[in-house]
Amino acid sequence: MINRETLEKEYPNYKRCIKDAFELGQSHIFRWWDEITPSGKKHLLKQTATIDIQFVHKLFNDNLHKTKNTLQGDLVPPHRITVPKNASELELAQRVGQIGEASLRRSEIAVLTVAGGHGTRLGSNGPKGALPIAPISGKSVFQLHAEKIRAVQQKYHTCIPWYIMTSETNDRVTQDFFQSHRFFGLDPKRVCFFTQGMLPAVDLNGKLLMNSKSNIVMSPNGHGGMILALKEKGVLKNMEAGGIKNIFYCQVDNALIKIADPVFIGHHLKNEAEISLKIVKKRHPEEKVGIVVHSNGHLQVIEYSELSREDMYARNGDGTLKYDAGNIAVHMININFLEKIYHRGDALPFHAALKKEPYIDEKGDTINPETNNAIKFESFIFDVMKYVEKDVIMEVPREDEFSPIKNMDGENSPATARQDMVNLFGRWLRNAGISIPMDNHGNVIGLIEINPCFALDEEELRNKIDKHLQFNGNLSL
Ligand code: UTP
Repeated sequence: MINRETLEKEYPNYKRCIKDAFELGQSHIFRWWDEITPSGKKHLLKQTATIDIQFVHKLFNDNLHKTKNTLQGDLVPPHRITVPKNASELELAQRVGQIGEASLRRSEIAVLTVAGGHGTRLGSNGPKGALPIAPISGKSVFQLHAEKIRAVQQKYHTCIPWYIMTSETNDRVTQDFFQSHRFFGLDPKRVCFFTQGMLPAVDLNGKLLMNSKSNIVMSPNGHGGMILALKEKGVLKNMEAGGIKNIFYCQVDNALIKIADPVFIGHHLKNEAEISLKIVKKRHPEEKVGIVVHSNGHLQVIEYSELSREDMYARNGDGTLKYDAGNIAVHMININFLEKIYHRGDALPFHAALKKEPYIDEKGDTINPETNNAIKFESFIFDVMKYVEKDVIMEVPREDEFSPIKNMDGENSPATARQDMVNLFGRWLRNAGISIPMDNHGNVIGLIEINPCFALDEEELRNKIDKHLQFNGNLSL
C-alpha cells in the first residue's frame, strides 16, 4: 500500500482528497495502488476528488447517533378532494379538468419522471423503465409512459416536454434504449435526460466500499437529488425558457400512472398550490407506504417506519383508519417552488438506507453479500412538504392509478402490475357494456391491452368501442 507522502508528492493536484482519505480513516481505498494500472490510478484519484469525504463522514456519524424518529401526537389527517361519487361531483371534476386542459393547451406543463434508482429489490439488469410490462405486446414501462404522453398531446393539440432524471449508472443505457426505439414516436428534441448526483456507499463501520481495486461504490443520492440536479444542470432554466409553469412529477415504476391528468392539474392551478399530491387509501395499517398528514401546521409525508404503532392503528369513530392517506408519489409542482427550495440549501436531509451491495474484501475477492452490508445516503423529495405553503391533496382509486413495480415477484411486482392493467381495461370495457369474465379474486380471465392512443380513458373507450364486441380471452386495441 502506498503511503500518504508519496501519493501527495506524486499527485499534488489531488492533495486535498488524499489528505481527507488518510485523515478520516479511508486510506484503504489505496490498498491496491501498486497493483492497478496507470489508468486505474487516474480513475481512482479522479473519483476520490469528486467525493466530499468530510461530508460522507458526517453523514455516517449523524446516522450512527440518530435516534429512531417516531412521530406521534399532533398529527392531523389532511383535508382532501375525494373521488367523485355522484353526477354533480363528476360535473365539478369535469369543470376543474377544463382548467387543466387549458394549461396543457398553452404548453405550460412538463412531465418529469425520476428514473435514477438502481431498482435493487427488482434485481433486474438495466433500467426499470426498460422492463417489458404490457400484458400482450410486452411493451416496456417507458413505452407505455411515452404513449400516454403522445395520447395527451394528440387529445389537447399540444406539446408536452418530458424530462427524465437518470443517474450516472443508468444514463447511457437509458438514452440508448430511447434511441433504439426511436423515442417511441415522441419528438427527440422534447425528451430531455439529466443526471442526478451520486454519493459513495459505506460499510457498516463507515468505510468506503470498493467493487474493484480502483473503483469506489457509488450510488444515486435519492429522488430528492432532483432539486439540485434540476437547478445545477440548467434544466429549470430550460423549463422556464420554454414557458413551463408547473411539472407533473411521477416515478418511473407506476404501471397505472395517469400522466398529465387534467383534473389533477386543474385542482392544482385553481388552488394556486405549490405542490399537489395524489393519495390512495391505505390497504391496511401496516402497508408500507408513506402517509400524508399535517403536523404542527405543516404538510408532511411520514414514512411507515417512522409512524408510531398507536398512530398506525388509530381508527375513526366509524372504524376506518385515521391516517389512511397513502402517498403514491404523483405530484404537480410549481417551478417557482423548486427555485425556492433550491435556495434554502439545506431543505432536504439525507436518510441512511441499508442495502446489499457487492464489494471486494481485503484480499480483493468479490463478495455478494446475503445480508445488508452497505449504507447508502439518499434524500427524499417528500421532505420538501414541510416548506409548502399551499397544497392540494386529491384522493384517487388505487385500482385505477397505482400499481408500483418494486419486487421481482409477489406483491408490487411485474406480474401484479400486468394484472392490474388487465383489470383496469376490463372495467372500462364492462362499463362500456362488453361482457368480461372474472375469477373469484376479481381478476379478468384473459388478457386485455388498450393502447393509450386508442383510448386514454374510460370515456374515450366508450365512444370508440364496437358495442357488439365479443371478448374471446385476448383483446388488443
Ligand atoms: P425506489 O425508492 O423504489 O428505489 O424509487 P428504486 O431504485 O426504484 O428501487 P430499490 O429501492 O433500489 O429497490 C422510487 C422512484 O424514485 C427513483 C426510482 O428510479 C423510482 O422511479 N429514484 C430513486 C431516483 O430517481 N433516484 C434515486 O436515487 C432513487
